[in-house]
Amino acid sequence: MARAWTPSSWQSHTANQQPDWPDQGDLERALKQIASYPPLVFAGEARSLQSALAQVAAGNAFMLQAGDCAESFEEFSAVNIREKLRVILQMAVVLTYSLGVPVVKVGRIAGQFAKPRSESFEKIGDIDLPTFRGHIVNDPTATEAARTPNPDRLVQAYNQSASTLNLVRAFTKGGFADLARVHAWNQEFVTSSPEGRRYEQLASEIERALNFMRACGVDTETNHRLSQVDVYTSHEALLLGYEEALTRQDSLTGGWYDCSAHMLWIGERTRQLDGAHVEFLRGVGNPIGCKIGAATSTDYVIELCEALNPARIPGRLTLITRMGAAKIESALPPILRTVRESGHPVVWACDPMHGNTFTSATGHKTRRFTDICAEIDGFVRSHHAEGTWPGGIHIELTGDDVTECIGGADNILDSQLVDRYETVCDPRLNGRQSLDLAFHVAESLRSSGLA
Ligand code: PEP
Ligand code: CO
Repeated sequence: MARAWTPSSWQSHTANQQPDWPDQGDLERALKQIASYPPLVFAGEARSLQSALAQVAAGNAFMLQAGDCAESFEEFSAVNIREKLRVILQMAVVLTYSLGVPVVKVGRIAGQFAKPRSESFEKIGDIDLPTFRGHIVNDPTATEAARTPNPDRLVQAYNQSASTLNLVRAFTKGGFADLARVHAWNQEFVTSSPEGRRYEQLASEIERALNFMRACGVDTETNHRLSQVDVYTSHEALLLGYEEALTRQDSLTGGWYDCSAHMLWIGERTRQLDGAHVEFLRGVGNPIGCKIGAATSTDYVIELCEALNPARIPGRLTLITRMGAAKIESALPPILRTVRESGHPVVWACDPMHGNTFTSATGHKTRRFTDICAEIDGFVRSHHAEGTWPGGIHIELTGDDVTECIGGADNILDSQLVDRYETVCDPRLNGRQSLDLAFHVAESLRSSGLA
């Protein structure tokens, strides 16, 4: 029989990566306040996403999961949210047309604040300071006061998530997502740079398809499916007190849902089988993800599947591989084979970001566009060889014109990283690099014969 689960049963397991809150009373007050607030999403929406992901697991749809590495309390504005959404919508149009299947859009947005860190302290000058763990915990300024975890930030993160989600809902249903508009933005990208011009043919095929539909009487005025989209929210379920405070019982089914986002995932550093994160997520009804690095054994992956999706519900579990361009083609195929043979119905997504991070000569944490593309190509080839469906990509991006990753559209150079390096955590693709990547993914799947 399955072990009993409650929203707080994680508390009797080891929870890695939790901040060292200075005052338990303050923490409890903040969590109690959040527990009294309304849910951010509804259980029914989480179930809709799970059904959409079941189509991905079956090879009939593709998932685009994208957004900030860490959302910021400072970079919080309508423009910032709009530009991020715009890029996600632009990428989705390219992928939908090229792959010929629906694209399930999931943002790393409206709650993606907390960051796992490899060290709890860092030396700055002569003093040891607690590391920055995301704006939901502390502030990156290098002083003891700024770095001390502050539970008021949990409440601020809830409030920012609510406002962000409100805007996401308005933008995606209120005309901003109109297919003809999104395509026009893509056309602008294609004509305005040498990288874009490589994709002229694809863009003109989309143009012809839109003209064809319009001629047949299917246009954005008559069909709301062409002007409204669903963008779901997701984040890493890292701070389990916060997640527990937003876990609510669904009045329709009686099941428990983590109503902080539609989808939650467990990171590479917190996926211990007997750990608190696996314990917490195994009991919520949301679709969930788990990161899988290159060193993960096939047995371990099967045990994770059994722990997180014992009932083998399609769409429930997404395995997000993040192996690095150099390792993916040796590490991934045995895992694909073992999971396929086990019969577990997982969604396979490729995070080509976290295995390809390095420090540039200028001292910036960065990623090369060519490595990101190479990991995606290796992912697609591995799936092609194993007869499994490369179901999605998981990307860190922003709509802003930052210079954080090297190469891609506008060929950003190592020496230019310093110009607009704005991330609060990992380096993100900027808007034009992201679109360049979407065209690349389309080409990669098409040339492998999978689309
Ligand atoms: C992340 O997705 O931002 C992250 C920290 O990833 P990982 O757990 O795969 O390192
Ligand atoms: Co990251």
